[in-house]
Amino acid sequence: LYTFAAEAHAPDIADIRPPKRKHSSHKRRYGTALLIGGDFGMMGAIALASQACLRAGAGLVKVISRAEHQIALTQMQPELMVSNDTALAQQLAQATTIAIGPGLGQSDWAWRLFEQACQANKPLIIDADALNCLAHRPSHYHRWILTPHPKEAARLLKQSVAQVQQDRIAAVKALYKRYGGVIVLKGTGTLIYDGQDMIVCRYGNGGMAKGGMGDVLTGLIAGLVAQGLELGFAAQLGVLQHATTADQLAQTRGEYSYLPSDLCQNWQI
Ligand code: APR
Ligand code: MG
Repeated sequence: LYTFAAEAHAPDIADIRPPKRKHSSHKRRYGTALLIGGDFGMMGAIALASQACLRAGAGLVKVISRAEHQIALTQMQPELMVSNDTALAQQLAQATTIAIGPGLGQSDWAWRLFEQACQANKPLIIDADALNCLAHRPSHYHRWILTPHPKEAARLLKQSVAQVQQDRIAAVKALYKRYGGVIVLKGTGTLIYDGQDMIVCRYGNGGMAKGGMGDVLTGLIAGLVAQGLELGFAAQLGVLQHATTADQLAQTRGEYSYLPSDLCQNWQI
């Protein structure tokens, strides 16, 4: 499965480490991540992404969600700064990185947030429902990370899921050609491609097939990008950290029992 021969390099987690945090430093140095999503009925998706983003070490983590979710999100995690879409322009301007998609939904609200985020001229992480917006309106940008699972990749390429899965290397290259940036094609043996390096993640397990697991990855990568890590490196580190933590939890809690939220509590970066 992981032997793509010359096509992809499967690094060890020990070889992909973040730079050491400066002893003398200030939160501004570690960036402001802005996470957008959590429509009605899907608040949990943005909650998971924002917890993961905090645990990635971002200086400030801000959330834009439905006004009705502001109190619940803040009570869940007091480190978050939560607002609604009336603050959108100001928050987009202040962010160093924007992640959009977890629980975003497909409403007019979602579309407006997606369009504004794309115009912010900041590094972007595009996931879940925001990828479906992108599939409707394809464009090219060098400063985004797309994190599709195979079905989202199929929509982005206007192919079937079977076509994507039958040649995942070809799919990730085609996504890069059409959309640019960094492509993370999720699923067993996640591929990461930045136009130069093709990386395959040889970690992970069947316990990861649980709702919310992708939202945690998105928040983790956003938190790393917010701190100034280069996009391709942040995607590689995020994917490997996510999967190796899941492997540790499979050992300690069991594949059936560990949850996406447990990852954020257990990884060590
Ligand atoms: N082995 C390794 N990794 C796995 C495995 C496995 N067997 N199963 C799942 N994963 C990993 C994937 O690589 C990915 O990182 O778990 C994560 C799952 O992410 P998603 O497919 O995005 O799942 P989810 O978090 O439930 O998505 C939430 O967003 O994309 C939409 O339609 C999706 O409504 C859903 C929501
Ligand atoms: Mg997902």
